[in-house]
Amino acid sequence: MHNARLDLLTDYPFQRLSDLIAGITPGSAEPIVMSIGEPQHKPPAFVAEILAKEAAGWGKYPPIAGTPDFLDAAGSWAATRFGVPWLEPAKHLLPLSGTREGLFQLGLLALGGKGRETKTLVLLPNPFYQAYAAAAIMGGGEPVFVPATAENGFLPDFESLGPDVLSRAALAFVCSPANPQGSVAGAAYLDRLVSLARQHDFILAADECYSEIYNDTPPAGVLESCTRLGGGLKNVAAFHSLSKRSSAPGLRSGFVIAEEALIKPFLRLRSYSCASMPTPILAASAALWRDEAHVVENRALYRAKFALADQILGGVPGYRRPQAGFFLWLDVGNGEAFTRELWRRAGVKLLPGGYLGRAGADGHNPGDRYVRVAMVQDLATTERALTAIRALMTDRSYAEAAAQ
Ligand SMILES: Cc1ncc(COP(=O)(O)O)c(C=O)c1O
Repeated sequence: MHNARLDLLTDYPFQRLSDLIAGITPGSAEPIVMSIGEPQHKPPAFVAEILAKEAAGWGKYPPIAGTPDFLDAAGSWAATRFGVPWLEPAKHLLPLSGTREGLFQLGLLALGGKGRETKTLVLLPNPFYQAYAAAAIMGGGEPVFVPATAENGFLPDFESLGPDVLSRAALAFVCSPANPQGSVAGAAYLDRLVSLARQHDFILAADECYSEIYNDTPPAGVLESCTRLGGGLKNVAAFHSLSKRSSAPGLRSGFVIAEEALIKPFLRLRSYSCASMPTPILAASAALWRDEAHVVENRALYRAKFALADQILGGVPGYRRPQAGFFLWLDVGNGEAFTRELWRRAGVKLLPGGYLGRAGADGHNPGDRYVRVAMVQDLATTERALTAIRALMTDRSYAEAAAQ
């Protein structure tokens, strides 16, 4: 009865994780969840105040294109952060009820263009945020998984696909800072990607929802490339979210910036199909985009936890500090076995890296050796978890048994 394309998607990673550890009693009375990238820091108090003040808005259907106030706040933030003073938010920016739905809908939007019948491919990094594969498959396209591994600095080398593949691409996703590896695409890398997208006429979707979670240096953004290269927003769609920046994943608030020729049909698609952002949430979101103080505080909390990770895991083979974002990506040899054993021994829940990747043409899934650790808990809980992770990573008898 259902769309057969759905069967090409695996179960969502968290369902697979539940299946993996079902029946195993966690080795702690207080299990710690570090499998899901759900920030546990508090969003600023003014969010609740604004939602209460704007309560009359719950009685209205929300405007699909947002409010002038939201467009101004989000657009000004993007213009300042990424040096795009020429941005026109009313033409170039669309609110999204969380970026996941926008990333997914881009597949419906980018595939099936008039005169573009041969453009059926969607390029994505491997491993990857799962919505990208859903965009490709449910949009009727074919995903091309491009390895993002230690060998290439955890950034996919789309150029290496060659002109035959690139010319058939309708869409490519890039994630920087990357989930799960925390790698950051530099300005030169992004410039090359934008040029490649323009040369081969595909849409480059830059998922930058972790852009504000960094150590010292703000990561480059694709919009900066647009200013440097000229050509406006041609072939580019940049995604930003309050989920990580403002620790507000439950608000479901993000936006996409793209050229008017893409925003217009995007708006039409969304008018038919999506939950637009309620006006109280638009108002709270506008206040969040205008405030940097809470973002600075948020970054400091993550910085302290990564310093702790350096302290506890530094020198352990398989550990490396990520450039940005809030995940550790640990090479533990066998991600599933490690996840099961850590849950059994210490009650710490991680995500096997293979659940975020797919086997490539060579049958190899580049995530299989890894676990992803979401550093979203408080400092004391994080310390407990990292200590347990270290104990298992350095346990020789476990390593020997796992190698059998
Ligand atoms: C890489 C990446 N992109 C997009 C999202 C979606 O974020 P949201 O829908 O909360 O804006 C997430 C959430 O975990 C993510 O990790």
